[in-house]
Amino acid sequence: MSALATRPVHRMRTAILISGRGSNMHSLIAASRSPDFPAEIALVLSNKADAPGLAAAKAAGIATAAVDHKIYAGREEFERSMQAMLEIHRIEAICLAGFMRLLTPWFVGQWAGRMINIHPALLPSYRGLHTHERALADGVKIHGCTVHFVVPEMDAGPVIAQAAVPVTDQDTPETLAVRVLAQEHVIYPLALRLLGSGAIRIDGNRVYTGSAEDGRVLVVPPPV
Ligand code: GRF
Repeated sequence: MSALATRPVHRMRTAILISGRGSNMHSLIAASRSPDFPAEIALVLSNKADAPGLAAAKAAGIATAAVDHKIYAGREEFERSMQAMLEIHRIEAICLAGFMRLLTPWFVGQWAGRMINIHPALLPSYRGLHTHERALADGVKIHGCTVHFVVPEMDAGPVIAQAAVPVTDQDTPETLAVRVLAQEHVIYPLALRLLGSGAIRIDGNRVYTGSAEDGRVLVVPPPV
């Protein structure tokens, strides 16, 4: 055997599910290009054929699929079609990244412990939509984002990584969204790295990694 021969390392075959622009998708694709990253992006799937992120993934040379929820009689039929597509591509893990469909307990059950989501708030605060508006209306001084395992309840599930973003006097929902999004792009690849490396152990709502990357709670200084 030549000295250059290396044992093939399995990289976790990961699908990213999107509905829109896909900026988090881009951050995951970029991270996965690093040779030591333990996951590869094997598929980008969208429920919207015209999602800008889908065209961008295709241009980046990644396999893409559109499964239009509107042509199915119900949620479960739609999800069975997605499931078939995920199986065709031998997907092992899913990252939801701005995927705007509620998922049934059946689909979530298929991917228990293997499907993660990014949410633009510090869960369990501000589940649901319009998180930045609601945080400002409440006057909180710390906002942020969360990567968590997906469970049947929306925006719940064990937390893998969070970044805290200070709120400033000048903030509007738009300015806050920009700073939170920048941190989403940091913690989502970090969380996928932890999942792909097999380091994660879940106990109740707590996620343990026992890894050197345990500094996964980020506090981001305010803009100067
Ligand atoms: C992000 O804010 C994410 O937290 C939320 O949906 C948005 C998707 O943005 N789940 P993008 O498509 O990744 O740019």
